[in-house]
Amino acid sequence: MTSTEELRSTVERVLARSRARSSALTDAVDDADLTAQHSPLMSPLVWDLAHIGNQEELWLVRDVGGREPVRSDIDELYDAFKHSRSSRPSLPLLTPDEARAYVGSVRDKVWDVLAASPLDGRRLERDGFAFGMVAQHEQQHDETMLATHQLRTGPAVLHAPPPPAAQTPAAGEVIVDGGVFTMGTTLDPWALDNERPAHSTYVATFALDVAPVTNRQYEEFVADGGYSRPELWSERGWAHRTTEGLVAPQFWERDADGSWWRRAFGVTAPIKPDQPVVHVSFFEAEAYARWAGKRLPTEAEWEKAARFDPATATVRKYPWGDAEPTEVHANLGQRHLEPADVGAYPAGASPLGVQQLIGDVWEWTSSDFEPYPGFEPFPYAEYSEVFLRGDYKVLRGGSFGTDQVACRGTFRNWDHPIRRQIFAGFRCARDV
Ligand code: AVJ
Ligand code: FE
Repeated sequence: MTSTEELRSTVERVLARSRARSSALTDAVDDADLTAQHSPLMSPLVWDLAHIGNQEELWLVRDVGGREPVRSDIDELYDAFKHSRSSRPSLPLLTPDEARAYVGSVRDKVWDVLAASPLDGRRLERDGFAFGMVAQHEQQHDETMLATHQLRTGPAVLHAPPPPAAQTPAAGEVIVDGGVFTMGTTLDPWALDNERPAHSTYVATFALDVAPVTNRQYEEFVADGGYSRPELWSERGWAHRTTEGLVAPQFWERDADGSWWRRAFGVTAPIKPDQPVVHVSFFEAEAYARWAGKRLPTEAEWEKAARFDPATATVRKYPWGDAEPTEVHANLGQRHLEPADVGAYPAGASPLGVQQLIGDVWEWTSSDFEPYPGFEPFPYAEYSEVFLRGDYKVLRGGSFGTDQVACRGTFRNWDHPIRRQIFAGFRCARDV
């Protein structure tokens, strides 16, 4: 059992980590850059920053803390449902200095609220859920802000050491035996509503690749005419490929000799063959899988491979067990600004030997974003419920841009099947 004081210091550490990251991502550029729109798909960075503070104010200062608003006049501006991303630059947003001061005063109040909270009682406060939710929210926006950085043009402003190299390259597939496993979670205290409740799920025997699809493999698909063969694509995928003129993953450029280069955070370099491919849409992933004679896994297959230990017939929080991720387990937390070569994290393997399920790249699954049996929206319908049964595919596992607080074997992400500005790749599965 974790004591309340240990939980309080965990909350403190997790909130401090998310704020350090938000500050690093926003301090890296000047005011003009913070207020610019780098892509119609993204908010100006200064919107994300103040929105982070506003959500923290709503849930922790006002709801949990029962305190007076810090600023009640800006809720509407920072409500993600009131203004489309593309319209946000033209709103009367807080300036960068005002936004920094705002998130700072909210956080000051939150330290008092944290000190006063029993971290127990009503569901929102029990086990520090609201604090964990707010930290996950900030980290999710930090990943979104990292994607905005990737869309910026101009010289590099973010720097990080390269990820570890692979001692032994990871390749091949494993067989996951058919049977039931417990999907989702009821007990994980900071799991979000869409991960709940735990429920028994049958998965038939299937084969899953040990590693995500690499740039080398993906380049073979490109070279084999993958983007000009409609039979490899779904009807919608082909229509999208055609309208958009897609010929390769986003940020790939071909030089005069026909070699592929990739631009990442302001630096253009030859593609690294053993890294998982990133910045592909669901439709591209699906076409690659068909070309390879395979398919994408369902999210139940992905989760079973990531959590089920056949030796004990129990599920874990992560592929390697229940221990929190460290730098030997997974490429998470913006420690590196690129995926690691396949095989770089043997200590993060699942009981069956599947690697890099957590970190590196989000993995597209073939599943639509649907509620689990017994789903209840909590604490607000706008986190998951309004997106359920929409035009969204589920992604699993987190990327190098995801913080560990927002990543685990049960965590569900979703996006439109055409999106590729997110740090998404995929791995293949096969019927056996
Ligand atoms: C779960 C990543 C799809 O960014 O749209 C942020 C997370 N929800 N603020 C998103 C989220 C509210 C969400 N995703
Ligand atoms: Fe948000």
